[in-house]
Amino acid sequence: MAHTKTESPAKSDHRVSAQPLLGQRGRIVQEYGTVVDLPLAVDASKRLESTRVLNQVLADTIMLREVYKKAHWQVSGHTFYQLHLLLDKHYEEQDELVDLIAERIQALGGVAIATPHDVAEQTRIERPPIHRQEVPEQLSRILEAHELVLKEAHEFAKAAADAGDDGTNDLLVSDVIRTNERQVWFVAEHLVEMPVVHAK
Ligand SMILES: [Fe+2]
Repeated sequence: MAHTKTESPAKSDHRVSAQPLLGQRGRIVQEYGTVVDLPLAVDASKRLESTRVLNQVLADTIMLREVYKKAHWQVSGHTFYQLHLLLDKHYEEQDELVDLIAERIQALGGVAIATPHDVAEQTRIERPPIHRQEVPEQLSRILEAHELVLKEAHEFAKAAADAGDDGTNDLLVSDVIRTNERQVWFVAEHLVEMPVVHAK
């Protein structure tokens, strides 16, 4: 048989394996709104309910995080600098909560909501205008968003404890509720009319 330099198809493929396989689409490996089986000693039905409510808190927390960034960019006036910094600090803290909540959902065997399209459809936070508002309105909207998250976090924390999902209860109480309560304090104090020089 004559010798040729032609290699087998397999070897030929191997030679170009540095080429990324682009434009791929595949099967869905887990549908949103389901949980996989995991040895967590919490019933699948309880974990499913926890992931459902955690996804609501997640959508609202992502939206609150973004409302903070909007205000961080768009505040103005003589407290601009301190508000600009404070609002970004709260944005970062909400961002940490987003990660904690999302990873809790995955740890429970669920699917965490993630992209803005889905968040916008699911959140209960009132949509702020695309325009720039006065600072008191920006802060009021932030406080209302906090209260919405706190209301659902209290309700869901109790339900999670009753269902035996202590980890979710702990996340909602120790992280979500405590962080949101502290941020409410820091923001609300900026809406108090207080004499700066002359006591009344
Ligand atoms: Fe910034």
